[in-house]
Amino acid sequence: MHKVELLATDHDRDGFDCGSEPLNLYLKQTARQHAERGISRTFVLVDEAAATPKPIIGFFSLNICQIKSESLPPQEARKLPRDAAGVRLGRLAVAKTYQRQGIGKTLLVAAMGKFMEIFNSAGGIGLFVDVKDQEAKRYYEQFDFIAMPSNELELFLPVKTIQQALKA
Ligand SMILES: CC(C)(COP(=O)(O)OP(=O)(O)OC[C@H]1O[C@@H](n2cnc3c(N)ncnc32)[C@H](O)[C@@H]1OP(=O)(O)O)[C@@H](O)C(=O)NCCC(=O)NCCS
Repeated sequence: MHKVELLATDHDRDGFDCGSEPLNLYLKQTARQHAERGISRTFVLVDEAAATPKPIIGFFSLNICQIKSESLPPQEARKLPRDAAGVRLGRLAVAKTYQRQGIGKTLLVAAMGKFMEIFNSAGGIGLFVDVKDQEAKRYYEQFDFIAMPSNELELFLPVKTIQQALKA
């Protein structure tokens, strides 16, 4: 059975390949350092029954971010203070051998669940993601992320959309 775990030393970071070298290197070289320094947290999807080091099927990283409400779509900015907090999905990747099998969606739903844990303890207006190109943008749009008016490659998933998605 697949399980989402906080990245740890018993995960096989070196064996991970999603086809994007910057993302592979982030997992291998940066993710644990960032977690130790409180910069971000990385979560991995693994097979519970796998022998250690457990192969990583996919991963995502989250960090707290601050948003100027004026940069949000106007309907989302209403009644917010000038500065608001959110959660940034800094990285999302699936190992090549597991792509196009719905794992990306599983990871996004897990990221939404982590967002709700933060929301329930400290608030937050939604999930943010910076995408590298139009193809990646289309990927997130199918999960109802919306583009920020100031930067079409920065996307936002409001808390109410997350709550609805998790209820469905
Ligand atoms: C992008 C990525 C995270 C998607 O994960 P995945 O598990 O392959 O995606 P899913 O199976 O959940 O995809 C569901 C649907 O999203 C769409 N989709 C999948 N990969 C896509 C991509 N790279 N771009 C745009 N749409 C994509 C397809 O419509 C797919 O449905 P289909 O297989 O029936 O056509 C994964 O392919 C990956 O890690 N790619 C390399 C790293 C990367 O580019 N990361 C940046 C984040 S977009």
